[in-house]
Amino acid sequence: MTNLHNNLSETTDLPSARAPTTLRTILKMARSGEKFACLTCYDATTARWLQQAGLHMMLVGDTAGEVILGFPSTIHTPLDFLIMLTAGVKRGAPETLVMADMPFMSYQADDAQAIRNAGRFLTEGLADLVKMEVDRSFAPLVKQMCRAGIPVVAHIGSRPQHAKMHGGYYAAGKSATSALELLDTAQAMIDAGAVMLLVEAAPAEVTHEIVRASPIPVIGCGAGSSCHGQVVVLQDLLGMTAWQPAFALPTVQVGGQITAAAQRWMERVATSDLGEHPYVMNDIERRAFESALRERPA
Ligand code: KIV
Repeated sequence: MTNLHNNLSETTDLPSARAPTTLRTILKMARSGEKFACLTCYDATTARWLQQAGLHMMLVGDTAGEVILGFPSTIHTPLDFLIMLTAGVKRGAPETLVMADMPFMSYQADDAQAIRNAGRFLTEGLADLVKMEVDRSFAPLVKQMCRAGIPVVAHIGSRPQHAKMHGGYYAAGKSATSALELLDTAQAMIDAGAVMLLVEAAPAEVTHEIVRASPIPVIGCGAGSSCHGQVVVLQDLLGMTAWQPAFALPTVQVGGQITAAAQRWMERVATSDLGEHPYVMNDIERRAFESALRERPA
C-alpha cells in the first residue's frame, strides 16, 4: 500500500497530458470530425492512469454491478454505491469528462425522484453528465432534467436494464421497423434536450443515419464506426473478463498479469523474500527494549 501511495502521488504530480475535457470539448471534437474515446471506470486509481493516457471521457457504468460487485446483471447495481464510485473516479481524474450511469429503478418509477437522483450524481457524485437508458416515453423526463440543469446522455438501442423483457441481452434496430423506431427515439431525445446520445448494439447502417441527422455527439457501443465517439468496458479491453464482444477485444492481458503477480507474491511470502524492512528501532531504543524483555517475568 505504501508503494501504491507513492506511485499515486507521483502520478498526481505529473503535469496533465492535455487541457481538461468538458462537454464543450466533446462538442467541438464531434463537429470537427475528431473521434473521442470513452472507457468505463469505477475507481480513482484507475481513473488517474486513464487520465494520464489522455482519455477524453469516462463512464461510471452500471456495469460496476457486474464488474465490481459480481452480480449477474446490471439491474442489481445500487444507486448509493454508484454515486460513491462516480465521486472516486472524478477525484482521480478531475480533468476528464465523467459520465455517471443512472442505475435500474433510480429513474423509472417516479420523475421527481429521478431528477433528485440525477442531481445527487452531479453534487455528491461530482459527475459532469448522467446517462439513462431510454425510449421515447422518457422524453418528458429528459426535458425536465434539462430544465433543472442536468446534462443527460440518452442511452438508446439495446438497453441492458430491459434485458428481462427480451429474455436476455439483445441487439436493437435489426428489423426495418425497429430501426425506424430507433431513429424516432434518437430524434425525440434530441428534441427533449439530451446533450449526447449513446447507441448500444445496433446495426452500423442504422447508427449511421442517427449520426447523420444528429446535432449532438453520438457515442457508440457496438454500434459501428460512424459514431463521434466510442465506449467499451475497460475490463474487456484489459483482458480481465471471461468473454469480450468483438468490438472490445483485449489490447493487453492484465488478467494474466494479476495472476502472475499473485503467484510471484506467494513465492516471496513462502521464501520470506520481503525486501528491506522499513521500520527500524534506533540503537538506544533497541537496547532499552532488550533490557526490558530480560526483566519481564517469563
Ligand atoms: O454501464 C455500462 O458500462 C454501459 C456501457 C457498456 C455503454 O452502459
